[in-house]
Amino acid sequence: MQTRVVQGEAGVKEAAEWIRAGWPVAFPTETVYGLGADAFSAEAASRIFLAKGRPADNPLIVHVLDVDAVLAVAEPPLPPLAKPLADRFWPGPLTLVLPARDAVPAVVRAGLATVAVRCPSHPVARALIAAAGPLAAPSANRAGRPSPTRAEDVLEDLGGRIPLILDGGPTWNGVESTVIDISQDPPLLLRPGALPRAAIEAVTGPLGEPDAGSLRRSPGTRHRHYAPVAPVTWLEEDDPEKVWAWWREHAAADWALLAPAPVVARVGVPWAASLGEGPVEAAQRLFAGLRDLDRFHPARIVVAWRSQEGVGEAVRNRLAKAATPESPEATEAPFLLFVCTGNTCRSPLAAALWNRLNTGIPAESAGVGAVLGAPAAPEAVAAAKRHGAELETHRSRPLQAVVGTPLWVVVMTRDQARAVVRQRPEWAGRIRLLRELAGEEGEVEDPLGRGQAAYDILASQLERWLVAIRHAVAPEDA
Ligand code: TXA
Ligand code: MG
Repeated sequence: MQTRVVQGEAGVKEAAEWIRAGWPVAFPTETVYGLGADAFSAEAASRIFLAKGRPADNPLIVHVLDVDAVLAVAEPPLPPLAKPLADRFWPGPLTLVLPARDAVPAVVRAGLATVAVRCPSHPVARALIAAAGPLAAPSANRAGRPSPTRAEDVLEDLGGRIPLILDGGPTWNGVESTVIDISQDPPLLLRPGALPRAAIEAVTGPLGEPDAGSLRRSPGTRHRHYAPVAPVTWLEEDDPEKVWAWWREHAAADWALLAPAPVVARVGVPWAASLGEGPVEAAQRLFAGLRDLDRFHPARIVVAWRSQEGVGEAVRNRLAKAATPESPEATEAPFLLFVCTGNTCRSPLAAALWNRLNTGIPAESAGVGAVLGAPAAPEAVAAAKRHGAELETHRSRPLQAVVGTPLWVVVMTRDQARAVVRQRPEWAGRIRLLRELAGEEGEVEDPLGRGQAAYDILASQLERWLVAIRHAVAPEDA
């Protein structure tokens, strides 16, 4: 299917024709671009799920023109808060979860008894709804990707999968609507969004926090979201000096940075995009920034953001979902990971000798070609014993079995470094060659088959190298 990008009144007319024919089309709203289809047609709605690759358990939002039109999709009596909220915030980026009419196909509601409704303020969205009727519309991205805030983003994700994109320029808010469930008391904030919590709470009083049960009622929140191709690290920091210091210590040359303007200016790296000044601009630029940086094919995108204020809450919410779970900011105790091939000799010996140094940073070990559960080589056990370390209880494990993010991944050879990049790409920026870290050149060779003396020499060398790197790894202890 060829995807055409159209604009203006003629574009709206053409889009309405496609919708009446049962097809989804992309259109701008004040938040993000939506992929809209006839809200009363199960077949049209199922084409939305197909085009996006969206899991069927994630319901759609129905977009209406005004408060009166709500009654076409929601079952009266409406919850008492519906009218005051609609009067105050519609048209605008607030979505209300209401009891559904049977007329709304089950596929739109993902089988729920409720329907999410919102009344957009964007003139192009309004013109389309006026021409084609209520639209069931999720954000117009491939499932799991950052939401599109520009027509080109929609084309990138859905080109060839939908007939038409109505281009209305960049969207205004940049993050999606705020979703609240007012079917209960107190109402629940299901998704922080473009309309700040404080504005809603001025009408409703304090909003409830979603627990496991309410998350089930907003099933989309369970799926991975907003993710560019590169893994994302969310750094909860906006002090330029601190981000700069963090970057110097952790980042690799092929990492990209998305951060408030002062931070971008301080860190000064080539692959960077600005979140501007303050939460409103950050929300506008967040998804576009992730997509733009992705085009460099960085090994990782680091996003520095901290503010919880206003729409800052939505920015934090999106970042928490976009960030890869292995991200280094995870609040786990730091550890060193020594890596060799089989994890039966060099790396367990290095880890055991390191742990004798009592640096305060523990070491673990793993192998790029290791099986699970093999004991250390007897010669390695003997060599360790001579240096006061214990290897009898060691059991080998592959890289994939390591939980958490090591401070550094210390390898013996360059081949192992390459294997680590393949097996755990999220650690790419943390890999160091042991002897280089110790200020030497060369690799740490495998003593296998060269007799006990070779293992004893290895243990002595390792001890020397570890003492040399100790200061670099654990400076506060030195
Ligand atoms: O700003 C927006 O809301 C954009 C534009 C296009 O309007 N739309 C949007 O749709 O973000 P989508 O599908 O990406 O997100 C809809 C959210 C999901 O988190 C979904 O789980 C929730 O609304 N939702 C939809 N129907 C629901 C229901 N009946 N109960 C609870 N949550 C619901
Ligand atoms: Mg979405």
